[in-house]
Amino acid sequence: MLYLLEHPLITHKLTLLRKKETCTKDFRKTLSEIAGLMAYEISRDLPLRTIEIETPLQSCTTSELAREVIIVPILRAGLGMTDSINNLIPTAKVGHLGMFRDHETLEPRSYYAKLPPLLNDAVIMLLDPMLATGGSASKAISYIKKEGGKQIKLVCIVGAPEGVEKVETDHPDVDIYLAALDERLNEKGYILPGLGDAGDRLYGTR
Ligand code: PRP
Ligand code: URA
Repeated sequence: MLYLLEHPLITHKLTLLRKKETCTKDFRKTLSEIAGLMAYEISRDLPLRTIEIETPLQSCTTSELAREVIIVPILRAGLGMTDSINNLIPTAKVGHLGMFRDHETLEPRSYYAKLPPLLNDAVIMLLDPMLATGGSASKAISYIKKEGGKQIKLVCIVGAPEGVEKVETDHPDVDIYLAALDERLNEKGYILPGLGDAGDRLYGTR
């Protein structure tokens, strides 16, 4: 299932991310803010369990999160979304998957993987700002499933129709959350209109 998280604040901030003149400092801050706003929606269906507590005045029946949440950024660019989501779910554990696209073939190459123990009932939020061909996300999801992950939410900021279709075909059980669904990919696999190379803009490497 694809969820498009349209909200005036997200749209406004995404415009700032797209502008070519936005500097690294503002790009990093804004990307993090968008991820924080998206966290509200992506966590909407997290299950709760009922508990009894004591307030300073009396006992009461209330609820707390029932399932462990694991946040998994795809390096590098997914790191820019991690802190703001982790700040809202501070008990979440964080795994890391390192991947980059081969510039010629656009195939994803894995160079690092470190996940916490993947409990069967954990909710796993896989983060990457860009869903282009969908190769990186699909490979990351396959790896997480191989390690035992069951409930996976893919959280991206900008997606191309080609990437959405690939993930939906390869992993129909995974929910996809996007702030924007763009037009298409160009011949080099970049999203149009997109925002350029998210990793480079986030870290000032180009
Ligand atoms: C970018 C982006 C995704 C991937 C998306 O990473 O952050 O991981 O490309 O493309 P795909 O959907 O076609 O696989 P990149 O390979 O540039 O690595 P980086 O984050 O280290 O810059
Ligand atoms: N990766 C990016 O960072 N940007 C794109 O447009 C496509 C892949």
